[in-house]
Amino acid sequence: MSIESLTVNDNRTGKQYDLPIRNGCINAADLRQIKVDTDDFGLMSYDPAYLNTASCTSRITLIDGDRGILRYRGYPIEQLAESCSYLEVAFLLLNGELPTPGELESWTREVTHHTMLHENTKKLMEGFHYDAHPMGMLVSTIAALSTFRPEAKDVEEPEVRRLQTLRLIGKVPTIAAYTYRHSLGLPYVYPDNELSYTGNLLKMMFSMGERNYKVNSVLERALDVLFILHADHEQNCSTSAMRVVGSSHADPYVSVAAAAAALYGPLHGGANEQVLRMLNEIGSKENVPEFIRRVKDKEVLLMGFGHRVYKNYDPRARIIKKIADSVFEVTGRNPLLDIALELERIALEDEYFVSRKLYPNVDFYSGIIYQAMGFPVDMFPVLFAIPRTSGWLAQWEEMMQDPERKIARPRQVYGGSDVRDVPPPLRRAA
Ligand code: ACO
Repeated sequence: MSIESLTVNDNRTGKQYDLPIRNGCINAADLRQIKVDTDDFGLMSYDPAYLNTASCTSRITLIDGDRGILRYRGYPIEQLAESCSYLEVAFLLLNGELPTPGELESWTREVTHHTMLHENTKKLMEGFHYDAHPMGMLVSTIAALSTFRPEAKDVEEPEVRRLQTLRLIGKVPTIAAYTYRHSLGLPYVYPDNELSYTGNLLKMMFSMGERNYKVNSVLERALDVLFILHADHEQNCSTSAMRVVGSSHADPYVSVAAAAAALYGPLHGGANEQVLRMLNEIGSKENVPEFIRRVKDKEVLLMGFGHRVYKNYDPRARIIKKIADSVFEVTGRNPLLDIALELERIALEDEYFVSRKLYPNVDFYSGIIYQAMGFPVDMFPVLFAIPRTSGWLAQWEEMMQDPERKIARPRQVYGGSDVRDVPPPLRRAA
């Protein structure tokens, strides 16, 4: 018997079992020894939506939801946002340590070297409708990269994985910018490798043929900080999709496309887009109390509020609120901010939200900043997917090196019909 254990009494059989506890968990497979008789499959745990199931051991990101803590590789998010660039943080997530100056230089050079897209990718994107949602274009184009890189299927080879990781981190901003240019019917702007990661993105999106496009350094830094905040968030919906799809040894392009598809949903990365739509619908501060009434009557959700893990203020929301001021000094104040502040003020005092521990999450303020910077609303989830690519790939790499790795394959509780015979068509109930 291990020192830390759980004793289970099976009242069906009167038998007793000692289950070891490691890292605050029992191993779900240990339940299988608990049987009524030898034909019994063994006890399973039932956990829809994995509310209380750890699916892996990870050393990348720590979230303490009750205390509002987020750390990448042990470093507090506040310090990373204050002192680092997004590319340094991406290196940290992937390699476990912050880069030395020399490592940062070669990492930046390598990522930059991979920002170009094959010209056929451009042709493929030209086939999308002018009003296609950028997230649909992003997901499809990332998946299509798999067809340009068949060698990426060799996922057991570390050097092959490293190369595709560089390619994805380098190319995702280019695809993102092309989705935007495509929806406006504007010519695509090629990457400018003299610029920073976010400076290049701003140029690819907004340049209108100026010979010397000048990136605004305040907006460039604000976007970089937003990217740091969005880079990883442990085993959320899209990261779990990355691990599940990657566990079948699918190549990283289709796995990242699957993760981006999961991010697209309005309950996940699509929430920032929904926040803006909600704020526009509310229209003015005076309408906030009526909207809160509808939320409490369960007619609508207060988008950008609530989180599966944070049951205290989301630390990312606090940092975003701070950078909003620097952005608004350049762009002018977004009038939606007043509605958002009023919503937050009322919600944080209201028993409905307090008792359910509902606080603003990362998406509550990010959309207001993105809009002020000139990004259209449907680009918001794309702006989330760009930095999250490094998190998805870091989690994938960790999984590929994990000796406990197996193809993901949950069990079910079958609740359907017992066995029955197929009736002829005329005897089937309408
Ligand atoms: N507005 C109003 N009520 C809410 C909200 C909300 N945003 N979120 C949760 N609740 C209520 C639920 O109705 C439920 O009430 P009940 O106990 O009376 O039934 C209670 O709070 C608990 O909610 P759950 O849905 O059980 O919480 P869960 O952890 O499953 O959901 C989620 C988390 C999906 C984020 C949810 O809070 C939500 O839908 N928020 C709005 C969408 C959003 O902002 N998503 C972004 C998340 S951050 C990210 O993905 C980057």
